[in-house]
Amino acid sequence: MMSDDKKKDIDELSGVETTGHEWDGLKELNNPLPRWWVWVWVATIIWSLWYFVVYPAWPVPGGATEGSSGYTQFKELEESQAEIHARQAEYLGRFEQASFDEIMQDPALYEFAMAGGKAMFKDNCATCHGTGAEGGEGYPNLNDDDWLWGGTINDIYTTLEHGIRVAGNYDTRVSQMPAFGKEGTLSREQINEVVHYVMSLSEGHADTAGKGYQIFQDNCATCHGPDGKGDRDVGAPNLTDAIWLYGGEHEDIYYTVYNSRAGMMPAWKGRLDENTIRQLAVYVHELGGGEEMQAEEAPAEAEPDVVIEDISYETEVPADSEGEPAEDVKEQEDEH
Ligand code: HEC
Ligand code: HEC
Repeated sequence: MMSDDKKKDIDELSGVETTGHEWDGLKELNNPLPRWWVWVWVATIIWSLWYFVVYPAWPVPGGATEGSSGYTQFKELEESQAEIHARQAEYLGRFEQASFDEIMQDPALYEFAMAGGKAMFKDNCATCHGTGAEGGEGYPNLNDDDWLWGGTINDIYTTLEHGIRVAGNYDTRVSQMPAFGKEGTLSREQINEVVHYVMSLSEGHADTAGKGYQIFQDNCATCHGPDGKGDRDVGAPNLTDAIWLYGGEHEDIYYTVYNSRAGMMPAWKGRLDENTIRQLAVYVHELGGGEEMQAEEAPAEAEPDVVIEDISYETEVPADSEGEPAEDVKEQEDEH
């Protein structure tokens, strides 16, 4: 004790003990730390010890100590994702069971379809149809009520499932406008006449007196209809509405008639799952041009199959009639 006292250096002015450090006559006083400061300091130490034990804190090979609470941010993420998936699964289960009619009536399922459809449209369709589905040359605008292949949800769904002119797909939407010029069916002169007539259809004064009218009736009416209003069974556009897939100038239409176009869309069945395709069908239907389902459910007028060269367009066979051939066909087969 005596030796300690001897070492103590007391500042003469303040009477406070110094640390013994001195710089050019300035001494550092050894004041006690403020009490509040000490308590905060002690509290943070205790808190950090508690944290080390409860939460993952120490890096160890392959990760970090687990902590007694078992908490990790990954787990938190997993849990919140699991919650989202559980909620999605709940909708998905109902969505899977619901008919398009039921989906349209049920606000929750409708929202589910629209949200999913919107996201999937951006990912899969916008490259060709545009982010706003506004289309472009050769790619139809999906917002309007001008449909090549039909605008009910079922029509759209079928178009999406099987695509358009997909080689090797038995169920695909298929038809082929002949290349009238290239194949020599019509002369340049005749094509000019018929283009003139086609243009007059959209200009509101169909020129039935010119030569083009008769050429149209002879060569085009099978698909585009005698009035030029189109035929969805063969994806032939309405030529009277001034909406052009490939342009409405004389030279555009001339090119179409001379060479034909034959736009293609991939089949989405197999690429996208069933529910996604259904969501997309609802989404596209709701873009603005969707048609009521009743229109399609009405029995279709019997129309002869159109056969052009080697391609035949058959009216669609309902899915459930596949498999067993009809009785009379079987009997015939047995006789042979
Ligand atoms: C590779 C380009 C391409 C992609 C990708 C594409 N489409 Fe298409 N789509 C087309 C073309 C071309 C047509 C018109 C074909 C024709 O001339 O009949 C078309 C036609 C359609 C039609 C028929 C329109 C009508 O008037 O009947 C619908 C509906 C449609 N697409 C929806 C979609 C949806 C939904 C997606 C995304 C899953 C998609 N398309 C992706 C190229 C594409
Ligand atoms: C076998 C059926 C078929 C016949 C016959 C046919 N077309 Fe087409 N036409 C189509 C289809 C299908 C399309 C859709 C475009 C495609 O092929 O992608 C089309 C598209 C067009 C277009 C483009 C419309 C647009 O919006 O850009 C014009 C114009 C046209 N046809 C005019 C004619 C004329 C004129 C004739 C007769 C000389 C004719 N078509 C005969 C099936 C036919």
